[in-house]
Amino acid sequence: AIDLAGRPFLKELDFTAEEFRGLIALAAELKAAKKAGEEVQRLRGRNIALIFEKTSTRTRCAFEVAAADQGASTTYLDPSGSQMGHKESVKDTARVLGRMFDGIEYRGDSQQAVEELAAYAGVPVFNGLTDDWHPTQMLADVLTMTEHSEKPLERISFAYLGDARFNMGNSYLITGALLGMDVRIVAPAAYWPGQEIVDRARSLAESSGARITLTEDITEGVLGADFVLTDVWVSMGEPKEVWDERITALAPYAVTMDVLRATGNEGVKFMHCLPAYHDLGTKVAREIHERHGLSELEVTDEVFESGHSVVFDEAENRMHTIKAVLVATLSGGTTTV
Ligand code: CP
Ligand code: NVA
Repeated sequence: AIDLAGRPFLKELDFTAEEFRGLIALAAELKAAKKAGEEVQRLRGRNIALIFEKTSTRTRCAFEVAAADQGASTTYLDPSGSQMGHKESVKDTARVLGRMFDGIEYRGDSQQAVEELAAYAGVPVFNGLTDDWHPTQMLADVLTMTEHSEKPLERISFAYLGDARFNMGNSYLITGALLGMDVRIVAPAAYWPGQEIVDRARSLAESSGARITLTEDITEGVLGADFVLTDVWVSMGEPKEVWDERITALAPYAVTMDVLRATGNEGVKFMHCLPAYHDLGTKVAREIHERHGLSELEVTDEVFESGHSVVFDEAENRMHTIKAVLVATLSGGTTTV
């Protein structure tokens, strides 16, 4: 049983391994119940605000569907749909929304903003992605790994290739360290997570038994990995101009069939939080294709569409895991799993 009633969900470092595992177990239980047509609504009458200062497909829909399944209502505030940050401070917004809502989701640049919202709202606040962390994504990714591996979590090994200085790289490093996993960050050293985060990961690893590797060497980094993961090379909020330097630095770290073969593991799985640039299906990808002649960026279309890829299971699991966060924090009392 885990008791997260009334707690915010701001970053992985705020949780013990037991709490994190408890949320994943609860998500698995909620997923099974929904599939069996036996979901029990534990959030009837609750109201949840969804503040998005950056765009979203998965996170927004996951919160809305999870809340609806559980009998709660949601109010979506898009970047232009609220006063927050433009003509009202985060602190004032928090105190207003806290009077009306039982929980508040926030996506934006600033981790400080989501922490401040949580400090003043008086109700649980959920981080739907900041520049620093993407903690709800981690619940989905770990659930997906447990579903696609026979091994216990602490024996699973995963390699993340690409820009590891941003939300996804930071979150993978800390989550793997917390849960005692074998974590490999495979990128040019300039793209590794910041020293403070690496230090936190190493100290978590001392008690969890996690193995942590940061390497520029792809062959060393992926050997024996059960999962190979990547993310976009340019994140939301970054200027378009950085594409050129990212392509130069990170193109060797694109996930190709050769990279999957280098794991030496025939059953290796590929994951990506999405959205992904693996074909010419987006305007950004077409512009890059014109300038650089590349039609596939962080992952090839061949890998993305292959039997190794579990990206849509991962995307679906956003909903089940976000539901677990809502139930654990908003339904009141201990959540038995
Ligand atoms: N993975 C993820 O957070 O997707 P969205 O940006 O669509 O929410
Ligand atoms: N690193 C990406 C993740 C998107 C879910 C971004 O911040 O845009």
